[in-house]
Amino acid sequence: MLTLTLLIVTTTESRIPRISLRFLAQQQGIWIGAAVSAQPLKNDAHYQEVLAREFNILTPENAMKFKTVHPERLRYDFTKADAIISFAKTHNMQVRGHTLVWYKSNPDWLNKSNFTREQLLDILQEHIYTVVSHFRGKLVSWDVVNEAITPEGKMGGSLWQKVIGSEYIELAFRWAHEKDPQAGLFYNDVSGEGLGQKSDAIYNLVKDLRQRGVPLDGVGFQMHLNLKSPPKPQDVAKNIERLAELGLEVHITEMDVEINTGIGTRKERLAAQASIYSQMLQVCQEAPNCKAFVLWGFTDRHTWLRQSPDDPEAPLIFDQFYRPKPAYKALIKTLQQNN
Ligand code: XIL
Repeated sequence: MLTLTLLIVTTTESRIPRISLRFLAQQQGIWIGAAVSAQPLKNDAHYQEVLAREFNILTPENAMKFKTVHPERLRYDFTKADAIISFAKTHNMQVRGHTLVWYKSNPDWLNKSNFTREQLLDILQEHIYTVVSHFRGKLVSWDVVNEAITPEGKMGGSLWQKVIGSEYIELAFRWAHEKDPQAGLFYNDVSGEGLGQKSDAIYNLVKDLRQRGVPLDGVGFQMHLNLKSPPKPQDVAKNIERLAELGLEVHITEMDVEINTGIGTRKERLAAQASIYSQMLQVCQEAPNCKAFVLWGFTDRHTWLRQSPDDPEAPLIFDQFYRPKPAYKALIKTLQQNN
């Protein structure tokens, strides 16, 4: 059995070309990854091939979210997530769990309910216990709580916040830790990469949690960017550094860069996109506590961003036909230069 496992691993590894994101990132001890959509993973061989060749960590895009795994109060469904985990295992890749508590992924049976505080606490605890136990030992990290803070830096008005109060955050971390003490537990949020109101609010939240002994290991920077107002690399570096001082890791968790907001020809906008990808990777590479650089997909064929036929968005690093874009080449170059 052991021999067989080793053989499979060796075979997968030997198929990884020396010029791939995965090969180069691995040499530097950094995880490079992409969000995975369950559908193409099932029936698109090209999708599978590029994914396994270029990345060493995956995040299920929707397959572990509340409404996917817990569609009815008394029913759980792990089919899609399990398929992603099995793909990762076959190709010797890690998996990030995403996400246990996110108000936008609540199923209707929760949103349209009138549960009391006690009931919601029970539901959340049972959800976290069940889901984290199911995946125990299979994930490197969990985005335990996602997007709890508003753009103005206030606690968001989610169902959890309204009915339970801010305590839901620390409880979620404690419950997750109980069921999988090995997984790194992350607070994940959007638009808090640089310095400003939002990232200060995230910083204050995680500082308070750490000081009170809540089991929190890191902060996820979603990094959904556009060409108009990307964060300054030096601000992102400072932000990562102040989190290091709290003993926290950082994962870049959902990077993509919209090009439709920018000016110039398409070629110029793709070049600008490439340079943003490479700057952010460089910041992560240079920070000892930045351990993962994960994109929200990898091909423009499958992106969560708007796709209209006359003005298609192209936020990722491979085009619709899996051809490498300037952004891919820029990432390769960045990894080579800093090797
Ligand atoms: C998005 C998915 O990409 C979409 O397919 C889904 O319809 C909605 O969620 N921040 C997050 C991710 O943390 O989970 C979101 O993913 C994108 C924004």
